[in-house]
Amino acid sequence: MDYKIREMRPNEYCELENFLYEAIHAPEGGVKHSRDILNLPELQLYTKNFGTQPADDCLAVEVAGKVVGACWVRIMNDFSHIDDKTPSLVIALYPDFCGHGIGSKLIKKMLARLVNKNFKQVSLSVQKSIPKTKKFYERLGFKVVGEVLGETELEFVMLLNLEGKNFA
Ligand SMILES: CC(C)(COP(=O)(O)OP(=O)(O)OC[C@H]1O[C@@H](n2cnc3c(N)ncnc32)[C@H](O)[C@@H]1OP(=O)(O)O)[C@@H](O)C(=O)NCCC(=O)NCCS
Repeated sequence: MDYKIREMRPNEYCELENFLYEAIHAPEGGVKHSRDILNLPELQLYTKNFGTQPADDCLAVEVAGKVVGACWVRIMNDFSHIDDKTPSLVIALYPDFCGHGIGSKLIKKMLARLVNKNFKQVSLSVQKSIPKTKKFYERLGFKVVGEVLGETELEFVMLLNLEGKNFA
């Protein structure tokens, strides 16, 4: 598949909600959440005024001129919050673009950016009911450090130590 990974442009930040919606993801066989869920304050944290906080950073996947995936980081008091020096990461692709190796390339580029900016660690949360996504993060070195009741279900909090790592 022909795709390009690049910085997301500020005029595209409005699309982050679509990717957050994909990341919230109905577990296989489960009921898909209504998009209204995005209005909850705990989910607004991920996208509201994106680009205005120092650690905000976002990469986009572009296919045929359209953004089909995003990976972003922000220091925020979300479900995977560790401390005020540890960014939380979100990644999502639209379903047609999953399973082609794009997500691995995208997240590694973001992890390399975090290493370059001297962040020591990065966290995320993943629904317990999606073991294949947990596996995706474990392959990159993320480890489960806790559990949290997320928006709709129990989630693992995962942490990756970035010190001495090279994701090139
Ligand atoms: C999770 C995600 C970013 C992975 O990116 P990807 O490009 O599909 O993954 P890659 O092709 O690089 O790697 C494949 C691995 O990702 C994992 N994976 C997770 N979700 C997947 C999905 N929906 N489709 C395919 N692979 C998926 C599997 O471990 C897979 O390994 P396997 O082939 O050995 O089973 C992407 O699948 C996605 O956006 N899924 C929907 C949204 C989501 O779940 N976001 C994370 C919320 S915590």
